[in-house]
Amino acid sequence: MSDRPARNGTQGAATRAVHAGQPATRPGDPVVPPIVRSSTFHWSSPDDGGLLYSRYGNNPNQLSVAGKIAALEGTEAALVLASGMGATAMTLLALTEAGDHVVASRHLYGATHALLADELPRRGVATTFVDPADAGAWSAALTPRTRVVFLELPTNPTLRVFEIAPARDAAREACALLVADATFATPVNLRPVEHGVDAVIHSATKYLGGHSDLIAGAVAGTRALIAGVTKMMKLYGPSLDPQAAWLLERGIRSLPARMERHNRTSLALAEWFQSVEGVAQVVHPGLPSHPDHERAAEMLDGFGGMASIVLEGGGPAADAFCAALELALPAPSLGGVETLVSQPRYTSHVDLSPEERSDLGIPDGFVRISVGLEDLEDLKADFAAAVEAAAAAAV
Ligand SMILES: Cc1ncc(COP(=O)(O)O)c(C=O)c1O
Repeated sequence: MSDRPARNGTQGAATRAVHAGQPATRPGDPVVPPIVRSSTFHWSSPDDGGLLYSRYGNNPNQLSVAGKIAALEGTEAALVLASGMGATAMTLLALTEAGDHVVASRHLYGATHALLADELPRRGVATTFVDPADAGAWSAALTPRTRVVFLELPTNPTLRVFEIAPARDAAREACALLVADATFATPVNLRPVEHGVDAVIHSATKYLGGHSDLIAGAVAGTRALIAGVTKMMKLYGPSLDPQAAWLLERGIRSLPARMERHNRTSLALAEWFQSVEGVAQVVHPGLPSHPDHERAAEMLDGFGGMASIVLEGGGPAADAFCAALELALPAPSLGGVETLVSQPRYTSHVDLSPEERSDLGIPDGFVRISVGLEDLEDLKADFAAAVEAAAAAAV
């Protein structure tokens, strides 16, 4: 947390994003804390306090950005790591041991699914995947060894906003911890701990960094939980380089301002897409047609910067659409200042059959859009031309 006292008791999120975590300054100090590249720090005995070493997550840049994230999430502590997957993997390793069991949503980022389905079983940790739309499924999947209940909010790429309460109640019933990957929501749109989540995970590569120029991850929770994840990070080694930590902190300072605009432009674009000929479906939690619209309106402070469309003409139309774009860029990832598009059938969901993807609401022709900070009218012009190109290709 910031060393600067809050004059009004509690600071707003935009103020915390700018100031929290940073040390108080004295005259002559730089306004922007410098990058501390040093791997190690002068230390001669335990009288000097805790040992500082950049793999331990206690380099000044790592500490100040972690403090900012904790202040935004409303948690006691946070830890930054070398990637979002690093954050997920170290959290799961910290919370489980051989013989333990995880209950996880089946709507997960592909690598998280693979970690749970293929990798953790090699370490003796089994996962049961459940349909999060089925409120009773969470508690039905519990075993005496369930230690973690895991979900993602909102989900990729269908932007489902499932109820948290059934997962939370199941976790409490099993004395397990509820872990949520809230990368798509960001702490601006949702503070999962307010809903009973114990550990919040972010791919900080996305909105927190916000400029598509770093790879980082974060986990936020109680001091005890973060101590456990830090232990795993020290042993397995995925600490965040101080330069990336500094860049991440720079990104987070503008997170609330960026999210306000991402939220606004993405909703306006989704509303506009509904009237565009050649677009069979628009997927956005801010639209009344979205299955979770009412819950999203209640739970989120903003619907997020993502929007998805399904083009008439299926896969070939989506290929032509992406190829015709001049402003938006086809690329995986999301959450940057620039608009990116991707087709899940080539990226996150490449390992599924077309039928399995369709079952999840991702038919061929599905294009995910990470709406950037460009002017709405420029984006509409680019997308209108691309939809026309897609229609021409489908003839
Ligand atoms: C929801 C979600 N979680 C985790 C990750 C993994 O993050 P990283 O690429 O920073 O390891 C991603 C990456 O796309 C993601 O979309």
